Amino acid sequence: EIDFFFPQEQTLAVIKPDAMEGHKEEILGEISKGGFTISHLKETVLTREMAEEFYREHREKPFFSQLVDFMCRGPCLMLVLTKENAVEEWRAMMGPTDPEKARETAPQSLRARFAKDVLENTVHGSSDQQHAAEKIHFIFGDISADSDVLNEADVVS
Ligand code: PPS
Repeated sequence: EIDFFFPQEQTLAVIKPDAMEGHKEEILGEISKGGFTISHLKETVLTREMAEEFYREHREKPFFSQLVDFMCRGPCLMLVLTKENAVEEWRAMMGPTDPEKARETAPQSLRARFAKDVLENTVHGSSDQQHAAEKIHFIFGDISADSDVLNEADVVS
């Protein structure tokens, strides 16, 4: 008998300020239906400094200051999601950056359903495992010894 072992992977998901009022519960429901385990979550209003650091890869882009303003506009929900292939699977659930494209190519995706434009696009997800590890550390600190299952101590508010 062969036992297959599927390694679990972590990704950082963010519910952005545009979605926090109207769609938070629905998005959390989709995350759960998608088979992700939430190991850590934290609702937070990012400071400018934090948003600038979070998006530092994009600091030369023309939209950088708009993106930073938007991300500080209100609370975000930060989540660590665990699943096999979590990075890719969460990005598939989000859909393409531009919701117009999302509505054409991935109509069930979160951005197709809820996003307004490339700026106010509802959710963020790490682009690869390296970024996931970096951003999780930036938001949550060292969680490497923590369990993959959410417990009360990991809910930061
Ligand atoms: S890139 O250049 O391919 O890395 O860009 P992309 O991954 O598509 O987008 C990176 C993040 O920047 C946001 N974005 C924008 N904001 C404002 N205006 C414009 N034109 C714009 N284009 C991209 C986009 O929402 C991405 O945010 P995250 O949170 O990483 O998904």
